[in-house]
Amino acid sequence: MPPVTEQLPTGTNLDPWFDHYAERAAGLRASEVRALFAVASRPEVVSLAGGMPFVSALPEDLVQGSIDEVMRTEGPVALQYGSGQGFPRLREQILDVMALEGIRANADDIVVTTGSQHALELVSKLFLDPGDVVLAEGPSYVTAMVIFRSYQADVDHVPMDEHGLIPEALREHIAALRSQGRTIKLLYTIPSFHNPAGVTLSWERRLEILQIARENDILVLEDNPYGLLYFDRPAPDALRSVEEEGVIYLGTFSKTLAPGFRVGWALAPHAIREKLVLANEAAILCPSSFSQLVISKYLETADWKGQINTFRGVYHERKNAMISALEEHLPEFSWTNPHGGFYVWVTMPEPLDSKAMLPRAVKELVAFTPGTAFYGDGGGRQNLRLSFCYPTSDQIRLGVRRLANVVRGELDLLETFAGTGSLTDTGAHRFTTPTDMA
Ligand SMILES: Cc1ncc(COP(=O)(O)O)c(C=O)c1O
Repeated sequence: MPPVTEQLPTGTNLDPWFDHYAERAAGLRASEVRALFAVASRPEVVSLAGGMPFVSALPEDLVQGSIDEVMRTEGPVALQYGSGQGFPRLREQILDVMALEGIRANADDIVVTTGSQHALELVSKLFLDPGDVVLAEGPSYVTAMVIFRSYQADVDHVPMDEHGLIPEALREHIAALRSQGRTIKLLYTIPSFHNPAGVTLSWERRLEILQIARENDILVLEDNPYGLLYFDRPAPDALRSVEEEGVIYLGTFSKTLAPGFRVGWALAPHAIREKLVLANEAAILCPSSFSQLVISKYLETADWKGQINTFRGVYHERKNAMISALEEHLPEFSWTNPHGGFYVWVTMPEPLDSKAMLPRAVKELVAFTPGTAFYGDGGGRQNLRLSFCYPTSDQIRLGVRRLANVVRGELDLLETFAGTGSLTDTGAHRFTTPTDMA
């Protein structure tokens, strides 16, 4: 190894190993969400930025009871390595969870992973070569895109409206990419209570999109962390309920139970499942035995469906608080009105820029995620994602009031320096309808 000083001219002052990284590491950039967590965790800041579930609503005694029981009756197993595919008992129970969204499957086709995030990583590792294309909604889940990019794939955003991904646009994007000789490997979609858009893919579109994927030989990666967290009516059944061979389905206990366990899963066509197990073993040997057994015990002994109902009630109330605060304080904005999940997607009129507005917002003690975080192509400047999962309804109202002050201040500034403070709605990345504004 050459002395560090010799490397500095070609590296950077901060990282003398700069020139040594594999090319794929260039895709690993800190996301805007991540940078925000540090600032937004200060107690005086109302954070409408993160996607942290409200775990305080969990029955602590039941979770504690499951932990105690596992340690008392199965301690040596819980503390030991397990199978790379995950415990059979938990995989059987996962079948019951997925049945709530119309999925019938075999426990043998499930691979337990370290959160669904890890399943995204494994699927990317198996399928993505440099230069491949992943089709994804525009906007899309930021940390999935970080993974796709880290495998040197490009994300191509397909537009959405208030009913989710637009099938016609999907056809056009596939045709355009193919005419450029690009290889499309995956269609990554979050059909229910989308992160960050808050919208849900209609049943008719689910069928149409599956048909398009089939016709074009494209594997669908269905990411569904929020599907059971509906407010007034369930989301349509999962894509995987219709199509077995062309869909890899990802689920997680992070939002319906707790992310601290880091337990998610992939349900895959049989041949892919075998490869996923090998990739899982290569990466982590096995998912946490302890977490799996505790969750399994919890599912066996607690009223987990009742608990999900409790979460639905909490999030519904908070969503309503957010929508009414937006109506009161920011009537010139538009937003999606989700029927489940954690997020509202806000569209601001010109000339506001969400990324430029963020430092002022943090100074005013409110945090949000700029829309640019959810596009790989620089889009989303007129959008912000507001999450209502963690703060209380009172905090949400306070946060939106602060946000409105930030907007006024920003407009004053723009007027002073550019002679324009008036709001023009260009409709960019806006997919609300008048009914969604309710
Ligand atoms: C769309 C989406 N996919 C995957 C994840 C990762 O969840 P997990 O905690 O299961 O890794 C999240 C977390 O916020 C998410 O929103």
